[in-house]
Amino acid sequence: MRNSIPLIAIAALFAIGQAPLRSEAAGENKLEVFSWWTSGGEAAALNELFNVYKKQDSGVAIVNATVAGGGGSAARPVLQTRLAGNNPPDSWQTHPGWELLGQYVEPGYCEPITDLYKSNGWDKAFPKELVASLMTKDRKIYAVLAGVHRGNVLWYNTKLLEKNGIKVGNTMTFDEFLAACDKLQAAGITPLGLGDSGIWASAELFENTLLGVIGPKGWNDLFSGAMQWDDPKVKQAMNLFARMLNYVNPDHSAQSWDQAIKTLMEGKVAFCSMGDWADGEFLKANMKEKEDFGWVSHPGTDGSFIIVADGFTLAKDAPHKDAAVAWLKMVGSKEAQEAFNKLKGSIPARTDVDRSKFDAYHQWSMDSFGKDKLVASCVHGEAAPAAFQQALNDAVTAFVADKNVDNFANALVQAARDSQAMK
Ligand code: BGC
Repeated sequence: MRNSIPLIAIAALFAIGQAPLRSEAAGENKLEVFSWWTSGGEAAALNELFNVYKKQDSGVAIVNATVAGGGGSAARPVLQTRLAGNNPPDSWQTHPGWELLGQYVEPGYCEPITDLYKSNGWDKAFPKELVASLMTKDRKIYAVLAGVHRGNVLWYNTKLLEKNGIKVGNTMTFDEFLAACDKLQAAGITPLGLGDSGIWASAELFENTLLGVIGPKGWNDLFSGAMQWDDPKVKQAMNLFARMLNYVNPDHSAQSWDQAIKTLMEGKVAFCSMGDWADGEFLKANMKEKEDFGWVSHPGTDGSFIIVADGFTLAKDAPHKDAAVAWLKMVGSKEAQEAFNKLKGSIPARTDVDRSKFDAYHQWSMDSFGKDKLVASCVHGEAAPAAFQQALNDAVTAFVADKNVDNFANALVQAARDSQAMK
């Protein structure tokens, strides 16, 4: 990968964990895969993975263990309970970075899959820097990526903007965005769709806005402790976030992220700031790129790519180990990466896929991934430990209600102080 990922060697921060005692015996010819992919686009893409798997390993019955709720907010606690209770699925969805290494590898819940990287040529096919900085501990690799989402995308309803005389170019500044929102609001249209029944969706709007103000260098500084969460620039981002919240649909807290995307498709709202799993929803609904919906980097973030990658693990003492290894091999294959990502909105993590098989959005995202500054998402568990991720969600919940910048900043200063990662 051309750009260094601004993630210090996260792996080095973990102490060696004590593996819990395990009791499961190998079961029947099954494979249990755990994820939170239940929205229309997510489920369709997951099904593609299952289809490719079935072609290769036809005798195995797949148990599709999903827990609904965007961003995995509901799934992760269920998974933790299962892992702590010695009842793991064979393989589960994880974000690389702190989520993988801190929550699963460090307590000893995962088996390394370093050998698969060698035997399948993955050491050449996957971006080395990403694997080394986000998925490796003590020189062992613990997951294989299915795809890489771009978090900082602003989606829009093309026809609605046209009707209101708003043109979006190749990039967008905050001023341009706010001016467009004012115009829409004056015309009686809700400018910005939000579905934060899972608070992570608001946290994502903030994360994107924060990057737009502090830039990728500021991002590194913030998550390594060199910049403080009450820095004037961070507060500027908080103020901008508050302004954006003035433009959102009043029923945002009753809606999920994909319901918000649906309102964009229906022309009830004009914009949504959301990772490109939103593209999966557009595809599922047969919306036409550019004609029906368009996209641009979230204001101020052109030149940066917030990584929200999805990987799969191998459980320690997996109940169906052979089937699980076959699953991981399949996830890392070209065929699976092409089939899955086309529907999911993410781009293949492998860098050797046939680009011509992908649509314009994917091409745009692949270009961005190749040339832009890559930063890890905090909202999706990569850039900071779970406790900080939770503190951010809590602070955002309070801020959406009170819009108090000082309280917001102070809560995060405190959370960073409590965290081993940001000192
Ligand atoms: C995952 C995506 C998923 C999104 C919404 C993110 O955390 O990485 O795969 O589509 O959440 O559920």
